[in-house]
Amino acid sequence: MRILSGIQPSGALHLGNYFGMMLPAVELQEKGEAFYFIANYHSMTSLRKAEQRRSNTLDVALDFLACGLDSKKSVFFKQSDVPEVTELAWMLTTITPMGLLERGHSYKDKIANGISPDHGIFAYPVLMAADILIYDSNLVPVGRDQKQHVEMTRDMAIKFNETYGQTFILPEPQIREEVAVVPGIDGRKMSKSYGNTIEIFGDEKAIRKKIMGITMDSRTPAEPKPDADKNLAIQLLKLVATANVAKDFEDRLRAGGLGYGDLKKALFEHYWNYFAEPRKKRAELAANLDYVNKVLSDGAVRARALARQVLNRAKKASGLD
Ligand code: TRP
Repeated sequence: MRILSGIQPSGALHLGNYFGMMLPAVELQEKGEAFYFIANYHSMTSLRKAEQRRSNTLDVALDFLACGLDSKKSVFFKQSDVPEVTELAWMLTTITPMGLLERGHSYKDKIANGISPDHGIFAYPVLMAADILIYDSNLVPVGRDQKQHVEMTRDMAIKFNETYGQTFILPEPQIREEVAVVPGIDGRKMSKSYGNTIEIFGDEKAIRKKIMGITMDSRTPAEPKPDADKNLAIQLLKLVATANVAKDFEDRLRAGGLGYGDLKKALFEHYWNYFAEPRKKRAELAANLDYVNKVLSDGAVRARALARQVLNRAKKASGLD
């Protein structure tokens, strides 16, 4: 089984990235042959600063390796080191109905917010389909927000196969329901664009401040809270503490007597401990960038060899050989 996923280098990674995509991706390394890449071509649709793309890309590489991506088990690379993917993207655009792309969430969001979309945003799902199809991927672990993109990928693969004969494998999205949506500190989905994130490797003081600032209601500590499971700090605690610890806090909140301040302090401590090992690992990697760059360039060589094979299959099927 081949597993594939990508992550955009859009800045410091946060708990939403971690629990939605990175952790499932790291766990899946044991289940098959995993290909993970940094989607720097995709980042061009939103980030227009070259130096920042460069440094974000390195940050994502460090974050991912620190969080358990094992370059001996997985192929880890930069999207743009396999330029074949853009060639396949062109081929796929020619069988992609406009209507399919017009239904895309990110495109529709831009229109709804009065932002004039460029062609990159419109064609984003086609490049993503090429990412997935060019590695004969079976399983794509993603956050819920990317599910539609994987479905569109299947539509494109089916259309190409119908047009030119069996060429592409149909991928399945894998979404872990229990952590599919990580709430941000304001209760909306955790997302960089909402500014409500908790970074995986944030500065201690800054994160403590963010966590202490999580939105709560004005009920007194003594009041019982029958809706304790809906509490934001409890929801986040469930991600970074053991089930027993989280349940204990939830029960105490429900019964009354636990103040929000104490709850948030506990959340910070558990968050900080949860990432203690990765934090150490990240510092080591940051002091050894040659190693990190070597991991990425070795990954690119392996990814590219496979991409060429699949691309050639598609070229042959469509008479481009
Ligand atoms: N669109 C994905 C995101 O923003 C990143 C991505 C690009 C991706 N290509 C991919 C994810 C292929 C999975 C498979 O999160």
